[in-house]
Amino acid sequence: MAIQTIQTRPFPEQKPGTSGLRKKVTVFQAPHYLENFVQSIFDSLEGFAGQTLVVGGDGRYGNLEATKVILRMAAANGFGRVLVGRDGLLSTPAASCVIRKHAAFGGIVLSASHNPGGPDGDFGIKYNIGNGGPAPERITDAIFECSKNIREYRIVDEVEMALDREHEFTLDSMAVHVIDPVADYAGLMAELFDFRAISYLFQSGFRMRFDAMHAITGPYATEILQNRLGAPRGTVINGVPLADFGGGHPDPNLTYAKELVAEMFGEQALDFAAASDGDGDRNMILGHRFFVTPSDSLALLTANATLAPGYADGLAGVARSMPTSAAVDRVAEALDIDCFETPTGWKFFGNLMDAGKVTLCGEESFGTGSSHVREKDGLWAVLFWLNILAVRQQPVEALMREHWAKYGRNYYSRHDYEGVDAVSAETLMTGLREELKTLPGRQLGQLTVATADDFSYTDPVDGSVSRGQGIRIGFSEGSRIVFRLSGTGTEGATLRVYLERFEADPAHHDQDTQQALADLIAIAVDVADIQRLTGRELPTVII
Ligand code: G1P
Ligand code: ZN
Repeated sequence: MAIQTIQTRPFPEQKPGTSGLRKKVTVFQAPHYLENFVQSIFDSLEGFAGQTLVVGGDGRYGNLEATKVILRMAAANGFGRVLVGRDGLLSTPAASCVIRKHAAFGGIVLSASHNPGGPDGDFGIKYNIGNGGPAPERITDAIFECSKNIREYRIVDEVEMALDREHEFTLDSMAVHVIDPVADYAGLMAELFDFRAISYLFQSGFRMRFDAMHAITGPYATEILQNRLGAPRGTVINGVPLADFGGGHPDPNLTYAKELVAEMFGEQALDFAAASDGDGDRNMILGHRFFVTPSDSLALLTANATLAPGYADGLAGVARSMPTSAAVDRVAEALDIDCFETPTGWKFFGNLMDAGKVTLCGEESFGTGSSHVREKDGLWAVLFWLNILAVRQQPVEALMREHWAKYGRNYYSRHDYEGVDAVSAETLMTGLREELKTLPGRQLGQLTVATADDFSYTDPVDGSVSRGQGIRIGFSEGSRIVFRLSGTGTEGATLRVYLERFEADPAHHDQDTQQALADLIAIAVDVADIQRLTGRELPTVII
């Protein structure tokens, strides 16, 4: 089989973002576009000759074709072996699991997470390192540098490749193992959680719905929940991955998982429901007529972690992103373990986990995970909840209320202003930054500002400093408002306003969240001059 060297020219804008290179499908369809980026990944790495590469993606439009190209390029560049999910499929957490389990050199994950798919949707590609986590900035920067100077790429001749069944073949001198995308991951889940207790729960009539949103977790949830744990057929809905996610927006939240939410707040509401996103790393947890905020979910998992066999020995520590509510902090304090506050984005958790400082971590944006892999993990969170429910034998709402009664309740909401003018958004943030010094001591509405800063993080493991991670305004009675601009948006700017108020008294745990936060919402709009600068009366999305 001949290795071809193909001449090419750089594309100027192949800069990996928060989670790899994410562009419209039409951009990826330009000749050599994908190949250039893949070669730039390989050119930025050293020492992979003869080593193993993991390849798989979320099944969106273009996934299988891109997988075959990557295999041909991996062979031409000297990898010894590729582990590829059947049909080119691997959820993001499963890719992380496979990399770790097989001690691979790294992996290439094809995904644009919760962004819509299909010919007019988005496509994405990212490189994960040997710990199973997203490549750190020094590597993504190197990939970008290579992409700007690329002149040629290497690829073996096109051949028929059967990726639709588990088997092994060779491409030039490289071995290709087509693996079951679910098996390794399901095996890991069985080690972490009490599958027998969860099976009994289903046998005793407990009913749940898992909405895979026509995305990658369908096969994982069907195998684990229905085949292994005995949940009835029909538990998993929208379980067949579709290249365009059925035209939907595969993001598990109250806005995009509308039907599931309607069912769980309706007459026929089941005991438990959950949804996951396009690539399987996000999760939403619902009880019978009850929504669990991701921040509360992290706190409850932390408080009950030892009920799951994989965490029976306790937790090394926990971490949350700065805008995530401080609910978990109170649990960490009670457990006498460390709680780290990191900037937004999963990459900041990797160092803490590699150093053994943290076992569980999470973000308010429907991301929860642990050191079992180095990505957030949607189905893992669902199984953790099921394990806890199986042991505690209480409804979700009762568990959560008991938790609040013990630790207090952090009323929490995020208001997003999407697609606002980028210059106005910067003006708003600059305005806030300029006020930081004069804010402490000032009265805003009925509240007094205690602290105001622009969050800066020093990584406790490698000492690296990340500045400008969000404006925080803290009030004397413990409430806070955080302002930051999204780093993942594609159109204009998205202003995110995070609002949080702590309420210790269980007699006041029944309020509507937006009402409980009404004074903070009014202060936020006023202090940042949101209506004038964004031209918006109201946020686009309220979570
Ligand atoms: C958003 C979320 C953040 C998450 C990231 C990737 O980033 O807010 O928590 O890690 O997506 O899933 P943002 O758009 O706010 O920069
Ligand atoms: Zn995702």
